[in-house]
Amino acid sequence: MERLCALDVGNGETLCLLGEYDERGELYILAQSKRKTQGLNRGVISDIERLSSTLRECVLEVERMSGIKVDGVFVSLSNPKLKSENLKESVLISTTPKVIDEGDLNRLLEKINLRARDDEYEIIHKIPKSYTLDNQEGVKNPVGLMGTKLSAEVHIVKVPKVHLLNFKRAINNAGLEVLGVAFSGIANFYSLLKYEDVEDGLLLIDLGHSLTNFVLFLEGSPTLCGVVQLGGIDITKDVAHYLGTDLEEAEKIKKNYGSALVELTKNSEGTTLSGKRRKNVSLEELSNVIQVRVEEILEEIAKGIQEKGYDLDQVKGGVALTGGGSKLRGIRELCERFFNLPTFLPLPREVYGLSEELKNPEFSTAIGLLKMFKNFKNVRKEKPSKNGSFLKKLLNSIKRMWEEEL
Ligand SMILES: Nc1ncnc2c1ncn2[C@@H]1O[C@H](COP(=O)(O)OP(=O)(O)OP(=O)(O)O)[C@@H](O)[C@H]1O
Ligand SMILES: [Mg+2]
Repeated sequence: MERLCALDVGNGETLCLLGEYDERGELYILAQSKRKTQGLNRGVISDIERLSSTLRECVLEVERMSGIKVDGVFVSLSNPKLKSENLKESVLISTTPKVIDEGDLNRLLEKINLRARDDEYEIIHKIPKSYTLDNQEGVKNPVGLMGTKLSAEVHIVKVPKVHLLNFKRAINNAGLEVLGVAFSGIANFYSLLKYEDVEDGLLLIDLGHSLTNFVLFLEGSPTLCGVVQLGGIDITKDVAHYLGTDLEEAEKIKKNYGSALVELTKNSEGTTLSGKRRKNVSLEELSNVIQVRVEEILEEIAKGIQEKGYDLDQVKGGVALTGGGSKLRGIRELCERFFNLPTFLPLPREVYGLSEELKNPEFSTAIGLLKMFKNFKNVRKEKPSKNGSFLKKLLNSIKRMWEEEL
């Protein structure tokens, strides 16, 4: 039986889940807690003490609920300065064909590691995408094959060193050990998607409180990770400004009456909303305000993808939306039109526990962390897997990364 504690440190709320895997490998949530996040502003720590106390309170609550002491946590992070890149490197194996072993693979990954190093950035993910053996591309696992030259392409995700340092410090100050860190976008993959979903290319968007994270998967593996500095709070602020009301009322109005697609409000001519100051705003007017902002967020994502030289035509699997913002009425339809791609709203899968509330996009990152770091202790002792799937490769890359660090 394995127990793990995940902290999804969102800009709006921090979620803490204590999960347990039973002998069949099923994930049960033993305890959960939620707090408004203090001391974090659009992915930047503005007050470490307040952030630490948010984290501590969350963990104390799951400890109280479960009667289980938590010493270490797996955490998600996102930062507007996050960088992602794909690096290719080669190593010579031998002049005549020889069987590739783990040592050759490690030598190659070490070379990539050296190239990925950055004075101001810390690598948080190194995900092998594919290998080329001599002239043969698309090799999923080269170990055991024969060749003279091995190349690999690896997806690297980095965050500013100073951010990771202070983020870990906030967690340590809360009396907790950091057992693993993941970019929220990558963590989401684990709770929401399967390898088959990303095989033909997929864009995963997490519309959160004040950041929108995205991961572009091409040919079955992550190819670009990005962070847009806009989120649900910006929609709420626009609504507040338009209605002349406060954020609290605007948030309620957004959730209860808002739509990301003006067209969906066309039959509700009779309904008007009154703010504390400005009166008589129709649902159509409200949705217009929301649609403009949501489109801006989607435009920023599209721009980020195009600037890096990728084309959304390569994304045959469509768009998956998650995060609290994905609950906005009409957002799926708007996204479908905007990207001209089928869009769906996956919910966390294969998780059991306290309430139906878990099957909610707001839980996707925390559940993803529990899934991503499953078998973490075993993985650290195991030999690298011979299975070449993206999931296994990522697990191995996590293993290597944390071994380097510990
Ligand atoms: N029913 C709903 N309709 C519209 N928006 C919603 C709804 N429910 C939640 N939201 C929005 O979702 C946002 C919070 O999403 P989420 O909990 O995923 O953010 P977070 O993880 O705390 O923040 P971030 O991802 O930016 O770090 C808020 O802006 C909230 O208004
Ligand atoms: Mg989030």
